[in-house]
Amino acid sequence: MDKIYSFYKDRSVIITGGLGFIGSSLAIRLTEVGARVTIVDSLISQYGGNMFNVEPIKDSVKINIMDIRDRHGMNNLVRGQDIMFNLAAQASHIGSMEDPFADLAINVQGQLSVLEACRENNPDIKIIFTSTRQIYGRPQYLPVDEDHPLRPTDVNGINKIAGEQYHILYRNAYGIETVILRLTNTYGPRLLVKHNRQGFLGWFLRLLLEGKEITIFGDGCRLRDLNYVDDVVDALLLSGYKKEAAGQVMNLGNHESISLLEIVKTMIEVNKSGKYNFMPFPDGIKKIDIGDSYADFSKAKNILGWEPKTSFKDGLLKTMEYYRKYGKDYYWH
Ligand SMILES: NC(=O)c1ccc[n+]([C@@H]2O[C@H](COP(=O)([O-])OP(=O)(O)OC[C@H]3O[C@@H](n4cnc5c(N)ncnc54)[C@H](O)[C@@H]3O)[C@@H](O)[C@H]2O)c1
Repeated sequence: MDKIYSFYKDRSVIITGGLGFIGSSLAIRLTEVGARVTIVDSLISQYGGNMFNVEPIKDSVKINIMDIRDRHGMNNLVRGQDIMFNLAAQASHIGSMEDPFADLAINVQGQLSVLEACRENNPDIKIIFTSTRQIYGRPQYLPVDEDHPLRPTDVNGINKIAGEQYHILYRNAYGIETVILRLTNTYGPRLLVKHNRQGFLGWFLRLLLEGKEITIFGDGCRLRDLNYVDDVVDALLLSGYKKEAAGQVMNLGNHESISLLEIVKTMIEVNKSGKYNFMPFPDGIKKIDIGDSYADFSKAKNILGWEPKTSFKDGLLKTMEYYRKYGKDYYWH
């Protein structure tokens, strides 16, 4: 990665959603390699943004507590930036069903606001947009590649498709370089653990660390591929660096798929204690459940030279160590 790190040295980079889980992990790495980092984040309370996420770099980055829907603000912030990592999102699937208008406003209107700001003020910027494998819906075949039909089971999936499409359109119509990464379940330090509405991994981790029993919905056989956050940061950095990435839509994923039950058992093994039980899917979650899902990430491997390096056990060890140390800054914030 040395060549990539020297590419980012002294480069001006803006991260929307930069106080969230993945955005802050990216901001920390970019700051370490000498990039000039600007963060935009609205810190909407139920989402994953947390000032503590950027504690190690808080004096080295510019932090703007601002909504991406603030067009005037975005106009100013995009000027002079070389690369944008566009991560700001309403990221809860169940949340998108309960408040579809908030999801629409952030994941669609918000994305237009970002793109318009770039078109008007900085069309030479390169944008990396984080989409989700949730847009495929219930897979018709596995592993899911980028040609798989898009049939989302929730409002968030529809709006993330719209977000992707706007990025593609602004490239075709205005020549703004855009890259789309479709992420799978990501975990690691700084993952939201204050509630169970933004993925099961953070919530399971918290229950375990608090000595509480984990409840698995269904029979635990659902397959997933998980990425450790450092591997996702690698993919983001490669997407910003590689010229060949422009205009591409690429899945991230992992070499191995793992069942929910295996995930929980591994967590308990790494934690050296823990219990679990099973419960039928609650109605709201069953409606949007996508069944088994894991991705074919060979396109990202070919174009970016990316593949995940962190084993689930190693990633879990690092994640648990982090929350043992700093859990109090996450459980209620
Ligand atoms: N974590 C995963 O497993 C996963 C999986 C697939 C896709 N993604 C995508 O990756 C991106 C980052 O996800 P994350 O897990 O870090 O989520 P997160 O909730 O931790 O981070 C999102 C950040 O965006 C900010 N934000 C939300 N609305 C905003 C707005 N209107 N203006 C400015 N900031 C706003 C939030 O405050 C938060 O800090 C998202 O685009 C998400 O859809 C994540």
